[in-house]
Amino acid sequence: MILRDYAETDGPGTLDVFSRAIRQTAARDYSPEQVAAWAGDDIDPEQWAARRRVARTQVAEADERVVGFTDVDERGYVDMLFVDPACARQGVATALMNWAAMTAAQLGAAELSTHASLTARPFFEAHGFAVVVEQHPVLRGVVMTNFVVRRTLQ
Ligand SMILES: CC(C)(COP(=O)(O)OP(=O)(O)OC[C@H]1O[C@@H](n2cnc3c(N)ncnc32)[C@H](O)[C@@H]1OP(=O)(O)O)[C@@H](O)C(=O)NCCC(=O)NCCS
Repeated sequence: MILRDYAETDGPGTLDVFSRAIRQTAARDYSPEQVAAWAGDDIDPEQWAARRRVARTQVAEADERVVGFTDVDERGYVDMLFVDPACARQGVATALMNWAAMTAAQLGAAELSTHASLTARPFFEAHGFAVVVEQHPVLRGVVMTNFVVRRTLQ
């Protein structure tokens, strides 16, 4: 597996990983209604690609396929972290998280933070994040559960 910057051709691959990570991995922890609201059948591929392009996206690639991706901004906020269900528990998210921590530190951030799903909470806690608050945002009319989590950067 290698990590690399997002490329113009990564729109479909990242959207596919996003969709399958929610529909397969996160579906363990969320109802069918919540999964449908989160995965969003109505995502426009061009808008998705445009957002990924500007979000400082890092891609994990294996056998020339996208197997995971994340991003980080200058405040150390991670908007997305998704891994192909076929590659779960192989350290893909750990490698992406290490990239996010290194990049955030280089950008001058003092901490890493994200909105962690029920599914991802154990991952973030295993990586030294603490839960700040549980939240129940409404997404496409459906009440979700997530957690603001954060970790200081040394
Ligand atoms: C959360 C997610 C990104 C983790 O990806 P991953 O590549 O499987 O994670 P890693 O292999 O790097 O896991 C590293 C460690 O985190 C912890 N961990 C990861 N998933 C876990 C789980 N489901 N339950 C408990 N601990 C978990 C473990 O300590 C694991 O180490 P181990 O496998 O040696 O026990 C992935 O499960 C995913 O895409 N989930 C669905 C989408 C989602 O919720 N994204 C986050 C949005 S905030």
